[in-house]
Amino acid sequence: MLNQNMKDKINKLRIDLNHHNYLYYVLDKPIITDFEFDSLMSQLIDLEAKYPEFSDAWSPTQRVGGGLLKGFKSFKHNSPMLSLDNTYSKSDLNAFDKRVKKNLNKENIEYSCELKYDGVAISLIYKDGLLHKALTRGDGLSGDDVTENVKTIKSIPLRLFGSFPNLLEMRGEIFISKKEFETINNKRAQKHLLLTKNYKTQIEKKLTNEERIKIEKKYSSESKKLELYSNPRNFASGTLKLLDSSKVARRNLDCIFYLVIAEKLPFDNHIENLIESKKWGFKISEHLTKTDCVDDLFSFIKNIEFIRDNMPFEIDGVVIKVNNLSYQTLLGNTSKSPRWAISYKFKALQTSTILESIKYQVGRTGSITPVACLKPIFLAGSLIRRASLHNEDFVKKLDLKIGDTVFIEKGGDVIPKVVSVDLEKRSSFSKSILFVKKCPSCSSDLVRPLGEVNYYCLNTDFCLPQKINKVEHFISRDAMNINTLGIKTVELLFSNKIINNIADLYVLDINHFQSLKGFGFDSNSSKKAQNIIDGIQASKKQPFERVLYGLGIRYVGKTVAKKLTHQFKNLKYLMNASLDELLEVDEIGNKIATSLLDFFSKTKNSLILNRLVSYGLNFSVQIEDKKSNKLDGLRFVISGTFSHSRDDLKKIIESHGGKNVNAISKKTNYLIAGDNFGLKKQQLALSFNIPIISESDFFKMIK
Ligand code: IVH
Repeated sequence: MLNQNMKDKINKLRIDLNHHNYLYYVLDKPIITDFEFDSLMSQLIDLEAKYPEFSDAWSPTQRVGGGLLKGFKSFKHNSPMLSLDNTYSKSDLNAFDKRVKKNLNKENIEYSCELKYDGVAISLIYKDGLLHKALTRGDGLSGDDVTENVKTIKSIPLRLFGSFPNLLEMRGEIFISKKEFETINNKRAQKHLLLTKNYKTQIEKKLTNEERIKIEKKYSSESKKLELYSNPRNFASGTLKLLDSSKVARRNLDCIFYLVIAEKLPFDNHIENLIESKKWGFKISEHLTKTDCVDDLFSFIKNIEFIRDNMPFEIDGVVIKVNNLSYQTLLGNTSKSPRWAISYKFKALQTSTILESIKYQVGRTGSITPVACLKPIFLAGSLIRRASLHNEDFVKKLDLKIGDTVFIEKGGDVIPKVVSVDLEKRSSFSKSILFVKKCPSCSSDLVRPLGEVNYYCLNTDFCLPQKINKVEHFISRDAMNINTLGIKTVELLFSNKIINNIADLYVLDINHFQSLKGFGFDSNSSKKAQNIIDGIQASKKQPFERVLYGLGIRYVGKTVAKKLTHQFKNLKYLMNASLDELLEVDEIGNKIATSLLDFFSKTKNSLILNRLVSYGLNFSVQIEDKKSNKLDGLRFVISGTFSHSRDDLKKIIESHGGKNVNAISKKTNYLIAGDNFGLKKQQLALSFNIPIISESDFFKMIK
């Protein structure tokens, strides 16, 4: 009986604390003082310690964080986390509205208008009202499991209230408020000041050379640790990836939700569901409205742009969504973004600062990019030190000189740009810029191919930054996603001549790390090294399309890699494909095809590929279950828009034995024509006597 009393008491405390937490962090309307809250919390902590049999992973006491994680496991999203198409003008918005109405064949469409939060996307899964999993966006298809860190965010409910769907996914944005970010940076700046003051006092004393070097080294390393965080978004995303959740708990992250996903939702429209989710414990924005008129959408945008600077958190635009959920389903998605939503991005913000010098970066393909090194300046909450200058022509067009005052612009997630020079402020000391003619790393002569804007270092096999960048690309998140290996370690492995290319990663063992700086003989270091090796070995499970993308073949991005692997199924077929066969693939033009042929013709690449094959990396795709042989040997070209997405149609064709090709040729058997199908394709099909069929004709063929 006593035990039952204790259990009830603990439960009551949990319910009360959850309620007060909600009032404080979600509704911003606390009814008790911080002191009262803390005292309820300590009562619960004491009781839970005394009665561990009543422990609960979703108790409010679990928000303080704890255990150290080794890394983050990746999980597949229930549905892809897409991005939004961007617009920048009223005419873009009008075009979106027209498109939506045409596709739905409706004259009146209701839209929701909301803020575009500039943070880190998160997907939360709730099962029976309990937070089950929190996944980052990752590559859109799978994300990292950051549940332990997310549990420390007070505005995220661990246990839902009211009557919620049993299986619920909430998508939203994790961020840090501008005020909190400023406080953290101010504290760092103060600590840095103190550190510099101490350093100066120490260095003024009479010292031996050795002592001086030691002090300087210490100052430089501690100084680095106190560098200001560059912007709230990076701070939030860095925090979410900390391995120590108790550190995350101390950083006061926040979260606002913008999408409710469940099989059975209380309403048939987005806004009402979002408002309902507030009753379950979720924080949503008060700037949420609906309209069916583009002029109103635009007024909303202008109003928000006007108050943008006074918002407590960073926003970079407004999101417009079709409100009705069935309409959303009818409109569907492209491979990248939903057709039922669009974001209106605010104009980039500008400021001016001094151009102190120019640095030249060598990319993985040997391209040379000039980068402006600027006198550091804050712009829209970000500390800007560098800005892109693109290429020589861009520098010439700006008539840029070292020492100039330049206007810089920062928009959305792109790196800042130098947009113009303040000529009135040009001093007679400003120095002309002579674009480098030799590689800043290996001193090889640079070449600017005819018709290209970039200079290239052609010393591909020996130019260190090119080799490092190739490995960096290979291990990156969208490629092999070897997140246990950081770029600093890659640099060390190169400078110690332990690796020379991507294939060398797969033969690394513990002994290779022992001579590296930061990897001693102690158990912690060998754990660190083992972790890296495990990450590399685990990457062998990555699908073919990621391996292909990771190879860094010029012009072969993620989408192209996917299309190629889908079409050719394995490396052998792809390597042996002719120019014509490559050109038949959707979206593959001459530039990409030539680049592929060039890559596969080089012996050094074949050697690396052979090694990767022998180490067991994935160089083929699983062929999906075939549904029938009805389309065996038939080649289809698709043109126009359909009720199914193009990708879906393609899958259907293939699952019945057919082939989807990009261009019409004599060999094409059918042209499937949707709305607005291409006139050129129609003429070609007619000239080759190729039957033009509708979407429904096609489905009759496989019935
Ligand atoms: S809806 C794209 N609504 O913007 C699928 N996204 O470019 C539906 N974002 O990564 C997203 N505010 O994290 C939606 N009110 C809002 C948003 C929003 C910010 C982010 C989101 C996504 C990115 C898309």
